Parts: sequence; structure tokens; C-alpha cells
Amino acid sequence: MQSLILQLAGLGYGGDYNPEQWSPEVWREDVALMREAGVNLVTVGVFSWAFLEPAPGRYEFGWLDEVMDLLADHGIFVDLATGTASPPPWFSHAHPESLPVDADGRRLWYGSRQAFCPSSPVYRQAAAALVEQLATRYADHPALALWHVHNEYGCHNPRCYCDVSAAAFRTWLRRRYGSLDDLNRAWGTAFWSQRYTAWEQILPPRATPTFPNPTQLLDFQRFCSDELLECYRLERDILRRITPDVPVTTNLMAASTWELDYWAWGRELDVVSNDHYLWAADPHNHIGLSLAADLTRSLAGGRPWLLMEHSTSAVNWQPRNVAKKPGQARRNSLTHIARGADGALFFQWRASAAGAEKFHSGMVPHAGTDSKIWREVVRLGSDLRSLAEVAGSTVEADVAILLDYSSIWAQEQDSHPSRDMTAVEEIRAWHRTLWRAGITADFAHPGGDLSRYRLVLAPALYLLSAEHAAALASYVHEGGSLVVGPFSGIADENDHIWLGGYPGALRDLLGVRVEEFFPLLEGETIPLSNGATGRIWSELGRATDAEVLATFASGPVAGSPALTRKQHGSGTAWYVATRFDDDDLGKLLSQVTEAAGVRPTVEAPAGVEAVRRRHPDGRTYLFLINHTDDDVTISVEGKDLLTGRTIASPLRLPAGDVAVLQQ
Ligand code: GLA
Repeated sequence: MQSLILQLAGLGYGGDYNPEQWSPEVWREDVALMREAGVNLVTVGVFSWAFLEPAPGRYEFGWLDEVMDLLADHGIFVDLATGTASPPPWFSHAHPESLPVDADGRRLWYGSRQAFCPSSPVYRQAAAALVEQLATRYADHPALALWHVHNEYGCHNPRCYCDVSAAAFRTWLRRRYGSLDDLNRAWGTAFWSQRYTAWEQILPPRATPTFPNPTQLLDFQRFCSDELLECYRLERDILRRITPDVPVTTNLMAASTWELDYWAWGRELDVVSNDHYLWAADPHNHIGLSLAADLTRSLAGGRPWLLMEHSTSAVNWQPRNVAKKPGQARRNSLTHIARGADGALFFQWRASAAGAEKFHSGMVPHAGTDSKIWREVVRLGSDLRSLAEVAGSTVEADVAILLDYSSIWAQEQDSHPSRDMTAVEEIRAWHRTLWRAGITADFAHPGGDLSRYRLVLAPALYLLSAEHAAALASYVHEGGSLVVGPFSGIADENDHIWLGGYPGALRDLLGVRVEEFFPLLEGETIPLSNGATGRIWSELGRATDAEVLATFASGPVAGSPALTRKQHGSGTAWYVATRFDDDDLGKLLSQVTEAAGVRPTVEAPAGVEAVRRRHPDGRTYLFLINHTDDDVTISVEGKDLLTGRTIASPLRLPAGDVAVLQQ
């Protein structure tokens, strides 16, 4: 059993610990309570810059020394943060040019957090200096287990439009295109007289009278992701130089934000970690949680990952911050573990008494330890100890859902056929449908290795390069099954339309040629010949070389294919030319999964989540999470690690409960 964090004997448990908000007497109570709850890993110093460097170049580590020693003495390891996500007021006051600027030219001031321009040289220098000091000071500290660079890059400042960013953008563009001619070609500047004749003329896509150039927008998003990644690398490289044996992470926000190209980020992290918060108003929020976990595991290349933050109960930043029901936080944490996390940490250890997050739940709530939250925190700690042997095992999936951040950015721009034809909602719907069918899915990049999947779904892949289209074709030619959703394969990597009939990049593979889009009006639907109902989208086209399984059944596109299938030897390429509601999508994906030989993890009642983790030595762990209000029975057997009981089939799983069967 090799744990993700070497020092931990099993799974990680803990949270963000912000001792600077409390007195040293409270620190001593904290470590005692951490032991009571079974906490073995805390993230320290995420927002400590102002305390670590109270004046330029004057570092004060005494308080942190004391905290680190206290934690080490109590056997608690530290994920030590570099503290660079919130420059202190003295810094921003002295360097107002480091503050970010929005697309309207408005400078955003300090007084909250993340008030810096990612390209600012003075910010980068100050951050690097702090990291150097921290790494040198704590390199050999026995509590140090992991470095936590920054915090949620791009959460509040994903894009900056200032002059410094403009210059950095031009440098990035020179690297990408080499010449202005190539840039003009890629950006399609023959349109609207946008031709550039000198690099200095090029700006970030600042507010402009109408639609900005789509490729400029797209490249700017790529640049912003790279620029923040550059900030991460700068810190990571310092840490690696001083402490080569300590792994480095930064907490991503996979499936909460789509602003950064997390495929590129995943490759740069020693340990992939993620933050996830339920959206209280979403009735499917536990399925959204599973999507976030599946995506994070995929960004980690299938290896175990760390849930860096989630909440014991309510957050403070939604319109209505609903508290978690009894047992809900436990199900949430164990779902992340089921889907490959080797630890579950919270924001934050002790709920703050002051500041913008004072109404955010913590592991120690305002009410103290005589509380539902604390009792649940202690119970979860004990559950995670019982699951220690799960650490290091991985999740296997037969299905991959394709996800390309550039494609999402391009698809969700304005000036398209329909504002309803968005990408993320479609990706969520296809994942949700698999979830309901009990099928575990990975996410994959269209350029990634797809060969191990029986089935690949492309719910929304508007942008597709020739290279990636060829990779999808080879996957099918080698016997794979591919299902392509509407408005996919439309444009190349520069957002230029593939000509000659849609979906140009996939026309031959799908055996379909579409000549015109017929998006539907708001709320309008269109019947299909197989009894399903199309939403948002229809199109005029024909099957050039594919079996038509359903056509649009009325209106101007009556008779055009709505659902097709083309065989390529033992491989199959399906095309769905409209959007379905969850029921119709469920029927389609059940047909597709059956044809591809993809089976659910186990047969379980609706609302019961089943996911399996596996060790290379063959030991497996079947996680069963009952999200319903009813007790259920499931035909499975094994030893339930949470109760220690051996289960002879059937297992009776009470409403809201979880079982983890070693099999
Ligand atoms: C994010 C941040 C934390 C905190 C939580 C609140 O995840 O990383 O610092 O603000 O949100 O939910």
C-alpha cells in the first residue's frame, strides 16, 4: 500500500488550518481536537503572506515555527502553502501597477484576495522571494509532507487586460505564430478590416463596440491559462530546487471553473488536488460532485488524487447557503474517495469568527464540539481510518467523455447559431445519464490515449483539429465505439469552419453531411421518428454513408437524420444531431453502452451510486452510496470495511448510508 502522501499510512484527513486567526491557546486546543477527529494532514498558511512578511523583505516565521512544531509533536502532517494568493496591502499599495484590470479598463483594488495581475513582474518577484524563504526555512521540518502552491489560481483573477498583460500576450502570440502574417491568417483578420501591421497594435480583447475577433478571444483564454500556469511553475521550480523530495500541488477547481486548461495543469502537478463545493440549488448536486471527482481523477492521469477542500456544511457565497443534512457530508466525502481520492480535506478546520467567510462551515463550527458537525467530523475520521487500505488503489472505467477546454471556450462564445448550444451543460447531461445507469466514466482529451476505452462519448466538441479528428477516426477504425453530439467537429483549432458541409472534421467518419443549421426557438421542440423529442437544435442534412436510426419528423428539416450509426469494421461511429432531455438521452446511451459491451459496476437500485477501486494485486473495493431516502437491498457480498461485518448477499443498505466492500 503506497499512499499518495508518503508519510500517511492511509488516507489523508483534515483541512485548511488558519492559525493566524486564533490565539496560541486555541492552537493547543486545535491540535488536541485534530487528534480526536483523526486528522493527519492540514493545509497551513494559505493566506498568511501579511503575517509572514509584514514589511518588504522582513520575514517573521516565529509563529509558524511554533505551529509547525505543535503539529509535528501531535503527529499531524502539513501541506504547507506558499501564501502567494493574497498579496498584503503594503505590497499592493506600494505597487498599484500590480493590480488587475478588467476588460473595461477598471483597476480592481486590494481589500479582498487575488488582487494581482498574473503577468506582473513585481508580483512574481515578491511571490518568488517569499517561496524561497519558506522553502529554505521548512525544508527539513518533520511536519512538511506536501507543498501547496498559491490557492485556486484564477478563481477571481483569471484574466487581466492591463498594459503589462497586453505585452505578455504579444510575447505569447509571437511564440505561437512567429510572424504577423501567420497571426493575421489564424485570426481571420481579413474580416472587418482587422488586419494588424505591427505587433504593438495587438491588445487583449478589451471592451469594444461589438463582437471581438473570436480567435483573439480564444487565444487570450489560452494565454491566460498559460500565464497563471507560469506563475505556478515559477513557485514549483523553487520548491523542487530546495526540497526535491517533497511533492508539490496546487488546488484546482475542476468542474467549478472551466477557465483554465486543466489538462496542461494536471501534467505539472506532483499530486493533483481539487476543491469541490455543492451547488445547493441543484437537485443533482451529488452527481455534479461525482463529475468533479471523475474529472480530477482523469486530470491526474488515473492516479489517486487529493480532495483539498470541500465543506462540512453550508458555504457563504451562494444566494442561499443551505446547510448539509445529517449524513450528507459523509456521503460527499466518501464519494470523492470512491472515485479515486486518497484523502478528504475541508475548508476549513475552524470556522472563522470574522471576515467574509465567517458564515462558511468548518470542521469546528462556531457552536463548538457539542454539535452535529463535530460529531460527523469525528465519525468521518474514523471511517477514513477504516478505509486505510484503499489508499493507492485506482478506479477503472470503460467509457471516456471527451473534454477539450479550448473547444468549450470557442463553443460558448457569442455570435453563434444559438446561445442555447452550450458545451458544459451537454457534457454534464451525458455524464449524469451514465451516472444514473451506474456506469463509471473517465474524462479524456481528444488527443489522449483512447485505446483502453470500449466507448468514447463526445457530447460537445465544436473545435476539432485535423490531428484530433484523425485520432478519433483511428480509434473507431481500431474497433472503438464513438458517439458524437450536435455542433461537434465544426471548426478547426483557430476557430475556422471546416468547409464543405458540417460536421466537417467528422463528416466521413460519421457518414453524414449537414448543409444548414436550424436551431429551435426558446422552449420549442421537434419530434423525432423514433418517438424521442429534439430540443434546442435541428439541422438540414443527409446520411451519405450511415444508417439512419431516427429522422426529424416535422418542419423544414423533416426527413433529415437526427440519429445515425456508421460501422467501420468492428468500430462504430454514432451521431446525434439534436439535444435530448435526460429520459431520451438515457434510452440512447443504454442502446449505445449495450452495443459497446459496457456494463454497470453492479446492478443497484436507482439513486444508489456504485464505484469500484482496485489495487494492482487484485484487491478491490466496491463503494455503495445510498443517496435515496429509502433502505435498499443489493445483491453483493464482501467485507464491509466501514462496519467490519462480512456481508452475505443481499446487502441491506439503509437510507443515506454507505458501504465499502472489500472483495
Ligand atoms: C475556495 C477557497 C477557500 C475558501 C472556499 C470557500 O475553495 O480556496 O479559501 O474561500 O473557497 O468555499
